[in-house]
Amino acid sequence: VTRRKVVTVVGTRPQFVKAAVVSGHLRALGAEAPVEEVLVHTGQHYEPTLSDVFFRDFGMPEPDHELDVGSGPMSEQLGRITERVAAILDQEQPDLVLVYGDTTSTLGAALAADHRDVPVVHVEAGERMFRRLRVPEESNRILVDHLSSLCLCVSELGVRHLAREGMAPERIVFVGDPMYDLFRWALDLVPERASIDLAALELEEGRFHLATVHRPENTQPAVLLRLLAALDRAELPVVMPVHPRVRDVLAEDGWAPAGSLRLVEPLGYFDLLRLLLACHHCVTDSGGVMREAFFAARPTVVPMQSNWWPQAVESGWAVNVGSDPDALLAALDAPEPEEPPSTEVFGGGRSAERIVEALAERAPLRKDEVAWHRHGRFAELPTVQATNFTYTHYRRMLTSLQERGYAFAAFPEAEELLAWGEPFVLLRHDIDMEVEKAIALAEVEAELGVAATYFPMTSTEHYNVFSASASAAVRTILELGHHLGLHFDLAAHGTNGALSIAEACEQEAELLESWFEREIEIVSFHRPSETLTEDVELSRPHTYLPLFHEPIRYFADSRGVWPRGEPTASPEFAEGRPLHVLVHPIWWNERPLSPHEALMRFVDRRTDLLERSLAANCEVYRVGRLAIVSARP
Ligand code: UD1
Repeated sequence: VTRRKVVTVVGTRPQFVKAAVVSGHLRALGAEAPVEEVLVHTGQHYEPTLSDVFFRDFGMPEPDHELDVGSGPMSEQLGRITERVAAILDQEQPDLVLVYGDTTSTLGAALAADHRDVPVVHVEAGERMFRRLRVPEESNRILVDHLSSLCLCVSELGVRHLAREGMAPERIVFVGDPMYDLFRWALDLVPERASIDLAALELEEGRFHLATVHRPENTQPAVLLRLLAALDRAELPVVMPVHPRVRDVLAEDGWAPAGSLRLVEPLGYFDLLRLLLACHHCVTDSGGVMREAFFAARPTVVPMQSNWWPQAVESGWAVNVGSDPDALLAALDAPEPEEPPSTEVFGGGRSAERIVEALAERAPLRKDEVAWHRHGRFAELPTVQATNFTYTHYRRMLTSLQERGYAFAAFPEAEELLAWGEPFVLLRHDIDMEVEKAIALAEVEAELGVAATYFPMTSTEHYNVFSASASAAVRTILELGHHLGLHFDLAAHGTNGALSIAEACEQEAELLESWFEREIEIVSFHRPSETLTEDVELSRPHTYLPLFHEPIRYFADSRGVWPRGEPTASPEFAEGRPLHVLVHPIWWNERPLSPHEALMRFVDRRTDLLERSLAANCEVYRVGRLAIVSARP
């Protein structure tokens, strides 16, 4: 068996940490490892305190390739990363590219892989903060998710975000958070591996806060200095490892703490963990530190409006305070939540195994083998099909029928009309998806002075005929002069064994009759072959009686095409023989649309309707969950 070759691209501190877990697991498997890893370090973070220390902490081997891209404006950095990773891919010819998180290195590597047609696997996919301004990570993550052939999510919420964005389930795998694996592994090692000396910093166990700040929105000089000044006023000492960007601002401005704040060099993993486990509160704008604080059950204050890990906020273990210094200081005094944090939402701490398994077995080896559509591969690309299912064409069809002398009849009239031998058509509309859409056909018919029979359902997952808008639509149609039938779906009664088919059908017909104050003289079936078993005796006539088929030629626009050709193009039409024509409103539109696109628009309308009605009913949906939760005192 040839092992898959995976190029892993890392470049920043948080990625070294995550990659250490997976690389460590592969190393532990040794010759048994199902994939071969080639490690690439972009060099986005290059200082020893931000980079080397992590390789050392986790016993990671030297990277196989160092790209030395260094710092610089993000677009230039991105260009260098993309170009240099692409060159490595040319050289290594891997099966897959593995990337972590949301940094410039992640996006650059994913773009390079995409350009080289190497499938991308993305760890920590699907997290969303729903904020873009000055948050390049949000854009990076969204772009990388959508470039990826396989999205590996560290939280269940990530899975849901991707599904909502229309991603096929095959492209999403919940693996749990590698940072949690690492946290559990490291806990026992902290006493021996941490070298930081609390006493030397005059810090007492549980009587200090740990702060880290590095995000661009917080390191603009004015914002940063206000934040630092607030921390300097805290009641307990605050220890803060300094990110290079913070260091640069301080060097420029000359501000120095005079109160509670103690600035220290950036820390390795074990030292940071040591402080985290011992701190009173953690103040951080880092997504990674935030999660580690959650694992360590330390309450966290986030100097941001919102963050990527709402799970921590929802459980009360984190609070977003924006850029308000007083809110920050007040939050440091808040008591701990009663419920311990549940790490379930981040998996059970076995993500390395799951990630390796996904790389070895789940990841598709070609970009075009991916199920890009939500429902898998049935439509790798939606089939485009030319149609003439437009209202204009519908009008033309009806006009042709009229010109050929056809009468538009109701079903109860058929028997008599057959006896007369004059041309007539039974025009029927089964309403499977959406009552409102039927109005357009009803109007065309009314304009031409013809009547059809409309068959709504009472039991369907797609609409509620008794809802305000569907009821209004049916009434509009009836007022235009059309007839009412019942479209009966046996499946809806599958669980109600107490009723026979005949009784169930009768019950629905009576419901519709009393609701719309109209008689129902005819029933159609959603699944005729299943409904019409031999012993079924219905009390009302139905559209599958031999009467409506044998002497009458039947046409239906099933699936958005006319399988028997268009009624008005048939020899029966030319001869003026009676016709039974079933037209489904869902396929007919102002402009020609393929059946697939017609259904997609239906989905859009339904989604829109659901969201609107939710917003009208629930403030929390309209205002946003995060806003409400973070406003909690
Ligand atoms: C990056 C990530 C961020 C992550 C953070 C962890 C992006 C867009 N952001 O932000 O998501 O949380 O890493 O630290 O990728 N610098 C040094 N030494 C270094 C590296 C950088 O001094 O080794 C300085 C440079 O002046 C540079 C600045 O830090 O301009 C920012 O570095 P950069 O890697 O671009 O972004 P981070 O802020 O570290």
